[in-house]
Amino acid sequence: MNQNRENWGSRLGVILAVAGSAVGLGNFLVFPGRVAANGGAAFLIPYFIAFVIIGIPLAWMEWSLGRRGGKVGHGTGPGILNTVVDHPVAKYLGSLGVIGPLLIFFFYIYIESWLLGFIWYAITGELSRAAIGADSMAGFLGDYLSGAKKIAQIPSHLLFFVITFFLNFLIIWFGVRRGIERSAKILMPLLLILGAILMIRVLTLPGIGEGLGFLWNPDFSRLGDVDVWFAATTQIFFTLSVGIGTILTYASYVKPKQDIALSSLTANATNELVEVIIGGTLVIPAAIALLGSVASADIAKAGVVDLGFITMPLIFSKMGEIVGYILQIFWFVLLFIGGLTSSVSILQPGISFLEDELRMDRKSSIAVLGAITMFFTLLVIWGFNAGAADEIDLWGFQFTLLLFGTIEAIVFSWVLGVPEGIKELLEGAEITIAKPFIFIMKYVTPTFLLGLLILWFTNGGGMDKILLKGVESVPVTLLGGVHTTNIAFIWGFRLSLLALFAALNLTIFTAWRNRTPAQLLEVEDEFN
Ligand code: TRP
Repeated sequence: MNQNRENWGSRLGVILAVAGSAVGLGNFLVFPGRVAANGGAAFLIPYFIAFVIIGIPLAWMEWSLGRRGGKVGHGTGPGILNTVVDHPVAKYLGSLGVIGPLLIFFFYIYIESWLLGFIWYAITGELSRAAIGADSMAGFLGDYLSGAKKIAQIPSHLLFFVITFFLNFLIIWFGVRRGIERSAKILMPLLLILGAILMIRVLTLPGIGEGLGFLWNPDFSRLGDVDVWFAATTQIFFTLSVGIGTILTYASYVKPKQDIALSSLTANATNELVEVIIGGTLVIPAAIALLGSVASADIAKAGVVDLGFITMPLIFSKMGEIVGYILQIFWFVLLFIGGLTSSVSILQPGISFLEDELRMDRKSSIAVLGAITMFFTLLVIWGFNAGAADEIDLWGFQFTLLLFGTIEAIVFSWVLGVPEGIKELLEGAEITIAKPFIFIMKYVTPTFLLGLLILWFTNGGGMDKILLKGVESVPVTLLGGVHTTNIAFIWGFRLSLLALFAALNLTIFTAWRNRTPAQLLEVEDEFN
């Protein structure tokens, strides 16, 4: 067993790190968009139901399985499932918990880098100059993404991507305690301060009542729509970072008898406060207050990208020259911090896998993972409009997340068993788990997830998406040129992801074959 595995330095540290993983673009951009599109305040009903029957339990499951795995030197799906499930196939199922976060990383890191780019252009004042109207702002974003905007001859979106990429690996380089924990302790309070300042400014805008009314006006008739419930559930997965192995890995660095039950709840509660209160105040209410109800139809239709990168600069341009200039910087710094503390959490499972299972040192792990993530992210950037963005959404955010989340719940509740699992959860715990939650974890969470998974394949259109039903090759403009490689690109992209997945599983195969009987016994000794 790897005796040099790290630990979090303090309880506050791990709580902030997990909250940092949870608080991200999902809170400030995706959430308000979903509230607006799914019945306003009425959306909170399915949302909080999903929080209680999926979010809280699944987070507890990941924390418990994670800390349990950490005791025997495993911090990711393959090793952890292997210690719980007495079947050789378990470690291969566990590989989903390594590939899933990576898929999300390939996409998330690129969007995160746009924020750094926008911080730069906010500081230079170029953003304020572009934000005189919706068309010029959209033009600015288009120029940025196509590479028409350059710094020292280099397309600036690539430059900022590379900087963001290195920043992420720099944090990882310093390790769990000195990198992730220390940065979360600085960045999370800063994020809360920036969020509070922006919120106060927005809440004192003249037309804010109308804005809040527009976003939150409840439409209970929407609750009959299955899609609304689906949106609420996926939002809970996404915003809490559960279901894909991130929390599993973070929890594996918790000391054996240190509380996890209350820590998990605290991190989740922090995320919910930030999401509903700050996320639910900024983007859409501010837009209605400042741009007026004429814009409301457009705002309701606008996607995440438009809201954050086009609408918000327009809003700030209406807040006065100096105030607008400063708050605009604050806004993009807020989002960038949210993104950074999330992206390192989706990178760590890959590092932990290489360190724990392949016995690599930090340097080699970073070199290997750096090469892999650089290659695939460039592929995503290059084929962003040709289908890569949608493919990541499909395989990362939907397929793997739902599948691995379901596997985790089944492993915790039905294979390890709730009594044993709860025992782990309560070891060193500073709270007790209420009886209804034990019932929920035993029956409701796994059953619900299993149902959701089946529903996703069938009615949710998952199978159609996998088979590319209705997708056609259309001319798309990307990175300055017109390409018509849609379908061909998508299949090529899938093939390359499949190759990565196969390589991962081959590594798992050889890693376990090379284990000595003594190493395998170590695990049994710990738990029997
Ligand atoms: N929770 C983050 C957000 O709201 C994103 C994120 C981080 C994530 N890790 C994840 C989403 C794991 C899904 C799975 O932006």
